[in-house]
Amino acid sequence: MDETKLNAFMGKLVTDMGGAALMATVLVGEELGLYRAMADGQPTSPEELAAKAACNPRLIREWLNTQAAAGYVETTEGRFRLPAEQAMALADEDSPVYVAGGASVLASLFLDKDKVVAAMRGNGGLSWGDHHQCLFSGTERFFRPGYRAHLVAEWLPALDGVVAKLRAGARVADVGCGHGASTVIMAQAFPASRFFGFDFHAPSITTARTRAGERGVVDRVTFEVANAQGYPANGYDLICFFDCLHDMGDPVGAARHAREALAPDGTVLLVEPFAGDRLEENINPVGRLFYAASTFICTPNSLSQKVGLGLGAQAGEARLRRVFMDAGFTRFRRATTTPFNLILEARR
Ligand SMILES: C[S@@+](CC[C@H](N)C(=O)[O-])C[C@H]1O[C@@H](n2cnc3c(N)ncnc32)[C@H](O)[C@@H]1O
Repeated sequence: MDETKLNAFMGKLVTDMGGAALMATVLVGEELGLYRAMADGQPTSPEELAAKAACNPRLIREWLNTQAAAGYVETTEGRFRLPAEQAMALADEDSPVYVAGGASVLASLFLDKDKVVAAMRGNGGLSWGDHHQCLFSGTERFFRPGYRAHLVAEWLPALDGVVAKLRAGARVADVGCGHGASTVIMAQAFPASRFFGFDFHAPSITTARTRAGERGVVDRVTFEVANAQGYPANGYDLICFFDCLHDMGDPVGAARHAREALAPDGTVLLVEPFAGDRLEENINPVGRLFYAASTFICTPNSLSQKVGLGLGAQAGEARLRRVFMDAGFTRFRRATTTPFNLILEARR
């Protein structure tokens, strides 16, 4: 036993346990509007914040002490302030780096622990819709800022000739659309095009329809409950899979259906979590987050469906390419990347 290594590992564990506990305090901070109440960057006392948020002052003091110990807020002489950078990540849902929504996804890991244990002891299957509902809202809130920041400005322009088609008026399918964040963002940017969102999870489609209404795009967006192999093959110019292909039981079948559903010179946009092809390349902060989510959410969902390929959220580009080649596509390339995403283009 190497005592130095043991101490280093204990330090790592304490850091990780603190991180897990902090995510619970982020959930509370969000729900009570505490970060938003501090978003002006002004120093506040616990009593002032408690009054602003209509909360118990003693518990607010304890919450602020936690945030200070974590470096989420700054403190001097009993007053606390949220720096502008932290406010972007924790208080502003429209900021490109807002990540606080991810805490709801993490909450679902704990809330659904018993179901995951049962899946691990059983056939491995746990369907998307059988998770706690905080997964569905958390996924929308975690992914939407990235779509708002990158989808129209970078990802669509990285595809060959797609933006010109969208401007002129194209037919777009968003498969596995969840709450429709990506669909609505594209529809807002390209009013001449028509957008069709599909997901097999009926409650998500209900929410997606609400979002289309809230954001004024019902004239160009429809959302329908459909499996990735069951939506109408209506000659789409663009078919998108945003962070969902690896969740599917039969990604090759889904890609094959997309091939049949494309217009003759149509394009598939595949957005997947960033990953290298080998486990060794994913031993890093992003990899550990995505592997954990994959263990609890993505892989069990895939195993609960027909074929049950279980690609996993860290599939990597080479395996994704093989999926599309097996489905009959002849062209597949990396269009661009972000620190969290691979953006891939497939054509017939
Ligand atoms: C991680 S979520 C991503 C949702 C959405 N694309 C987004 O980026 O916010 C994965 C989605 O895939 C959907 N899904 C999984 N398997 C599916 C299948 N076989 N057919 C259609 N949708 C599926 C789930 O219901 C879920 O909404």
